[in-house]
Formats: sequence, structure tokens, C-alpha cells
Amino acid sequence: MSNYHIKHLEEYFQVYRKSVREPENFWEEIAEEHFLWRKKWDKVLTWDFTKPEVKWFEGAQLNITENCLDRHLTTRGDKTAILFEPNNPEEPAEAISYRQLYERVNQMANILKAQGIQKGDRVCIYLPMIPELAISLLACARIGAIHSVVFAGFSSTALSTRINDSDCKLVLTSDGSYRGDKTIDLKGIVDEALESCPGVQTVLVTKRTGSDIQMKKGRDLWLQPLLNEASTFCEAESMGAEDPLFILYTSGSTGMPKGMVHTIAGYMVYTAYTFKNAFQYREPDVYWCTADIGWITGHSYIVYGPLANGATTLLFEGVPHYPDFGRFWNIIEKHKVNQFYTAPTAIRALAKQGTEVLEQYDLSSLKVLGSVGEPINEEAWHWYNDNVGKGKSPIIDSWWQTETGGIMITPIPYVTPTKPTYATLPFPGIQPVLMDETGEELKGNQVEGRLCIKFPWPSIARTIWGNHKRYKDTYFSTFKNMYFTGDGALRDEVGYYRITGRVDDVIIVSGHNLGTAPIEDAINEHPAVAESAIVGYPHDIKGNALYGYVILKDFGATRDRDNLRKEINQIITEQIGPIAKLDKIQFTQGLPKTRSGKIMRRILRKIACKETNDLGDTSTLLNPDVVQEIINEAL
Ligand code: PRX
Repeated sequence: MSNYHIKHLEEYFQVYRKSVREPENFWEEIAEEHFLWRKKWDKVLTWDFTKPEVKWFEGAQLNITENCLDRHLTTRGDKTAILFEPNNPEEPAEAISYRQLYERVNQMANILKAQGIQKGDRVCIYLPMIPELAISLLACARIGAIHSVVFAGFSSTALSTRINDSDCKLVLTSDGSYRGDKTIDLKGIVDEALESCPGVQTVLVTKRTGSDIQMKKGRDLWLQPLLNEASTFCEAESMGAEDPLFILYTSGSTGMPKGMVHTIAGYMVYTAYTFKNAFQYREPDVYWCTADIGWITGHSYIVYGPLANGATTLLFEGVPHYPDFGRFWNIIEKHKVNQFYTAPTAIRALAKQGTEVLEQYDLSSLKVLGSVGEPINEEAWHWYNDNVGKGKSPIIDSWWQTETGGIMITPIPYVTPTKPTYATLPFPGIQPVLMDETGEELKGNQVEGRLCIKFPWPSIARTIWGNHKRYKDTYFSTFKNMYFTGDGALRDEVGYYRITGRVDDVIIVSGHNLGTAPIEDAINEHPAVAESAIVGYPHDIKGNALYGYVILKDFGATRDRDNLRKEINQIITEQIGPIAKLDKIQFTQGLPKTRSGKIMRRILRKIACKETNDLGDTSTLLNPDVVQEIINEAL
């Protein structure tokens, strides 16, 4: 018998030991007992981090939607699978049962097929948080198409880059989206993006806002009439365990976003198993993750993990502050939410409102609180613990990444004693190590270093779409035979992990990963700009905010500096999206550079953080004088 559901600490340690000593047996037992396979695997694991290559359950055949939908029909057909809470609280919530979801996914799958989409084709999904978004993912999976969801807050340029990178044939979108009291012209953004995407043959449009939009003849089709005609049965494609399930883009330190490729079987097993344990999900709990499906958190813990467990997963279209800052608490009360998973940036924004709003709601249904996406600071942790959880709902501070597919280090609620700001212990199957800068492993406790994982787990991303070399260079070349996470971490006296933050040029703003290079590239497109450098600095709510140092081509020219700042942010919004806008822009005549011409970001970071007492060694700089100048003008 596998230990699918861990219930106490001793059991965790026992399960963990087994997962390290006999990883193949461990995962094989879980896969065997808890999932539906059309054909079992020939080999549990093949791996070589030097290539790098990882394969789980090779030779197996399955369809993930049969695991998320079909197998629940007999026992959970009428159970709510997705509970949809619209942006506008006046609009009724919609409970979609497993049977209804099954039928809607099958209909959508038939429509995709009728549009010529076949196994292995890429489909781009650019939709707001409405049921069609979850349905689209599953419909692709049903027919073996590879979905590439692009977060609907990205700009048209960001969208077209992603569509072209993976040669998507079809785009699923909506006429518009609601975001609080705003309506966003999603279809207009798609139209603009598609001007530079010759490979897209079809656009399927869901009606949401009723906005007046352009439909391009021969390319754009309304979804609703097609759905009305479509059969509610679509034979699930038999898929290989290692066939790609989806591509999801994440920022890198340089240039193009990285299309992380996740494959079917390992991802399914790992997300389902972690969901069950990290949230201690028990039927008939109502589970709510506030992330957008456009991010990995939504893929794994709104759609696949919960549905593979037959859970009820809440899908919220709106934002925490609309119609007021009580919205999250209102939803928890209204739907009697049991597990609530959100990001530190949301917690900080809500904490800023005090406790008055929150006290108007009954939050007694809550059993587990989760945090994800960035380090949670001590103050936010206590506020969440004391006021939302009333000290009785454990907080799981779960650390993981787009690349890891599922939760890697986390307390298991009611099992692992929590400690503020600590992600605590690795999940079964995860073997973290801390490395020093010379490539030596830091053994024992009370050490701090770079976080790596030394053994594969089932949901590790297998490659970067179209660029395996970049995959190898980014994750497997810094430390020999290790997956390098890009994060720093420490291990305390009892072996608990605390994630200290990124050690590369990725900055996490409001829980969103942003690479410095693409933002700098955008800024440099402004005709007045010669060069720029971006760093992060601490921000009360966002965790980090962006500080830009910008060199103008003609520094002395009389230009309205505030106007220039607006124009620069406008370019960033167009190229990437509003999430990447800079909070502060300092115009400067130079940037501190090494003799080899590399910008010393360490110094710029300290200036932005107002830590100028100890700038470290600046003697190796090509232009040490510029440092004082920048300090004098710092914002
Ligand atoms: O730096 C870590 C931070 O978010 C990064 C991964 O971002 P992304 O791929 O967008 O996935 C976010 C959701 C899984 C990590 O490298 N991060 C994520 N969770 C935590 C965290 N930092 C500290 N504590 C966490 N719990």
C-alpha cells in the first residue's frame, strides 16, 4: 500500500525516507494505485542530469482527462468540480458538476478537432478566469494538443512572441474580460498580436463582456454556436507518458521567455499527490486557489491537481479589492472555503486594510492557509495566521517554480509544525541540497547557500520548447549533476528550509517573475535612451518593486523628465505588460561598470535599497566616480 495520504509527522519521515531510498518503488506504488492507465509503463525512471534527460513511466499510455473527469463520473458525477465566482458579486455563482464539466470539455475538444487541431499541435489560450479557460486546457489534453496558456494581462507583443515561439495554430480568447470595475479589450489585444503571427489559422472567441469587437472573416469564430452543435462525447486520445501536456512561459535572466515543457504522466502523478497532502484535502472540502490559471500555480493547483483528486475547486474571475477589500473574505464565507491558497502580495495588500473588514465575515470554514510565489515576510505571516486563520489553520508556505511543476518544499498542514517565513521540509521525493559558490555541497544544518535538487521528481520540466541547450545551460550547468533553482536558501538547526530569494537577474514583483533583460530592452527602445539597468528594491505590498537607472543620449537636453518617465513605462506596458512597470526611474550620466564592461548591479541594488553605507569594493570599477553621483541623485 502506498502512503498516498500522510497524516502525522512520524509517517511523513517514514514516507520521506522511503522516497529517497527507493524512489522508483515509491512513485510506482502511488502511480499504480491512484490513477487510470490505458497501459502500464515499461520503466519507472530514466535520468541523466548531464544531458539532461528525465523520463518517468516510460511506455505507459494514458489520458490525463480520463483521470480528471471520466473516472469520477460514476461516484462524483453530480459533485461540483468547478465553482465559478464571477467578477461581479451580483452575478450568480455557477456550480459545474463533474458530469457537466466532462460534457463541456468533450464539446470543446470536438470543436478543436473540427478546426483541424491534432495530437501534438500547439494551441494558445488567452482567456480571463472564466470556466472556458479550465475547459480549454482540458479539451486540449483530451485530444493530445499541447496548450500554451498566456496570462491575459500580457501585452500583444508578449502574446505574439509566445505564439510564434511555439508555432501555435489556434488561439482561444474572449471578446473581453472583467477586472474589477474595468473591462479589458482582450480580442483587440489578440488582433494586434496576430498581425505578426502568420501561423495562426483560427481564433475561437468566447462571449463574456458582450463588447463590440471585430471578427476577421475566415479566421475568427464565435465559440457558442459551435458548442451548441458539438457532441458531448469525444474519444480521449491515447497519450504516451512522456508526451508534452503543455508549454508555459516563464521569464529568464536574458532575452526570450522560456517555454517550459511539462509532460503528462509525471506531472499528473506529482500534482495530484502534492495537492492531496499539501492541502490535506478531504471530500467534500471546497478548495480555493486565488492564482490565475495563466501561471503554473493555476495549472497545477486550480485545474489538474484538484480535478485528479475529485475535488471542488473554486475559480474566481475578479480581484481582491472589488467591489471592496472584503471580497476574498466574502467568497470564503459564501462558499464555505476550507483550503485557501494565495500569494504574500495579496496578503500584504489586505493586511494594510486592518482587520475591520475581515471581522465582518465568518471565516470559520477555513482549515488550511497557503502561501506561494515569493518569500512571505514575518509580519504578513503573523497577520495571516492570527487574523485569517485565527491561529488554528496552519499556513503552508510552499516553495516551488514553473519549472518544478508542483510544490517542492512545504509544511504538510497538521503534520509539520510551522515556523514563520520557513517553507520547512521537502516533500516526499524531493532531495534539496545547498551549494556554496565553489560548487561544494554544504552539509549539515545551519548553513546558507544556493538551492539545488539532486534527484529527479516526476513533474520536473523536461526541456525548454525548441531550445534544449538553454535548458541545460540555465538549470544543469552551474552545479554538476544538479538542478539549480536560481534561489538562495538556508537550512536552520532542525533542517527546516527558508527561501531567501533569487540569486540571479530575475526579480519577483507581486509574485510575478520578471527578467531584467527584457525590461531593459524595452526601455532602450525609447529614442532618448542610451542605456539602462533595472534592479529590485523592497516594497511594502509588492514584495519587490522595480528601480530603473536610465542613461539618456543627451543628458543635458531640456526635457520634461516626468513625461519621459511616463513614456518609458508606456513602452514597457506595450512590450511586456503593466506588471513590469517601473516604480522609480532615475536618470543618470553613467552606470557603474567593471573593466570588462559589465554593469555592477550589486551596487545599483544597494543604492535603490538605500544601503549605501557598505557598498563593498568599488575599486575595480572602470568609473568609480559615477557611484557618488548616483547616490546623490537617488530617489
Ligand atoms: O524565487 C522563488 C519564488 O518564485 C520563484 C518561482 O516563480 P514561478 O516560476 O513564477 O512560480 C511561482 C509559483 C510556484 C521561485 O524561484 N517562490 C515561489 N514560492 C516561494 C518563493 N519564494 C519564497 N517562498 C515561497 N514559498
